[in-house]
Order: sequence, then C-alpha cells, then structure tokens
Amino acid sequence: MKGGFTGGDEYQKHFLPRDYLATYYSFDGSPSPEAEMLKFNLECLHKTFGPGLQGDTLIDIGSGPTIYQVLAACDSFQDITLSDFTDRNREELEKWLKKEPGAYDWTPAVKFACELEGNRDMELINNTTLVNSRHPAITGP
Ligand SMILES: C[S@@+](CC[C@H](N)C(=O)[O-])C[C@H]1O[C@@H](n2cnc3c(N)ncnc32)[C@H](O)[C@@H]1O
Repeated sequence: MKGGFTGGDEYQKHFLPRDYLATYYSFDGSPSPEAEMLKFNLECLHKTFGPGLQGDTLIDIGSGPTIYQVLAACDSFQDITLSDFTDRNREELEKWLKKEPGAYDWTPAVKFACELEGNRDMELINNTTLVNSRHPAITGP
C-alpha cells in the first residue's frame, strides 16, 4: 500500500508538538469535539486501568507530547515511561516533567481524570501531584 506508513524521519522533520497540542488538546472550558474526544479517551483509559490492571512498569510507545494517556495508570504502576521518536516531543515532555516555564498545562485533563476516580475534592488538581509522584521517565530511540 503506497503512502500508508509515516516513518520516524517524517515525524522528526514535520511533527510540531505545540501545533499538535494547540489543535487537539487546548481547552477553554467550552464544549468542542476535541474536548469530547479527550474525555472519551480518559473514560476508556479509566475503565481499562481502574478494575485491576496493574504492574511494575508501564511503557507508553509514541507518547508524542502528551501525558493524558497515562493518568489513569498512575495508581496502578510503580514506574511509567513515556517514549517518543522525536527530540521535540521528548523536550516537550521533559519541560512538563520538570515544571519548566512554558510547559504545557494539563490541568483540565488531570481534573477530569481525578473526577473519574472520585477525587471530587480537587486536592489532586495539580499536574505534579497525580503523576510526578510516580516519577515517570521519558525515553527515545
Ligand atoms: C499521533 S502522535 C502521538 C499521539 C499521542 N500519544 C496522543 O495520544 O495524542 C504519534 C507519535 O508516535 C511517534 N512515533 C512514530 N514512530 C515511532 C517509533 N518507531 N517509536 C517511537 N515513537 C514513534 C511520533 O513521533 C508521534 O509523536
């Protein structure tokens, strides 16, 4: 099949994490197809990790610049590794992990993930509380 596979070099050259985040993961509180999609994904992940799927190490392959996909796993895995082929995506993840200025704000996703887990008092609404306590690592090729 012609043109059916996007190779790593293409991602390295053309994938722009900030554009990707702005397009699919920026929320201002108003309803949007992107926000609904993220909620749906978080609900599915909550159902997947909630009822007993657990282990020592979780490796997410092709994380891109996003972290929402491991939020539901934070309580059930000791170590979580995010990985991506491109330098830019890993830099974006590092920025978030180290709480550097300009790091992407995942608060709406974290808030929704916490609500799914019943933490409605919102004390966990902080990017660091939920995930950094598990020390996720970031790795590449
Ligand atoms: C659609 S994007 C990221 C999606 C993101 N996890 C999300 O849910 O929005 C797919 C990612 O896979 C990465 N990727 C592609 N081939 C890869 C490979 N062989 N190893 C690791 N990452 C790869 C790309 O760099 C890209 O960031």
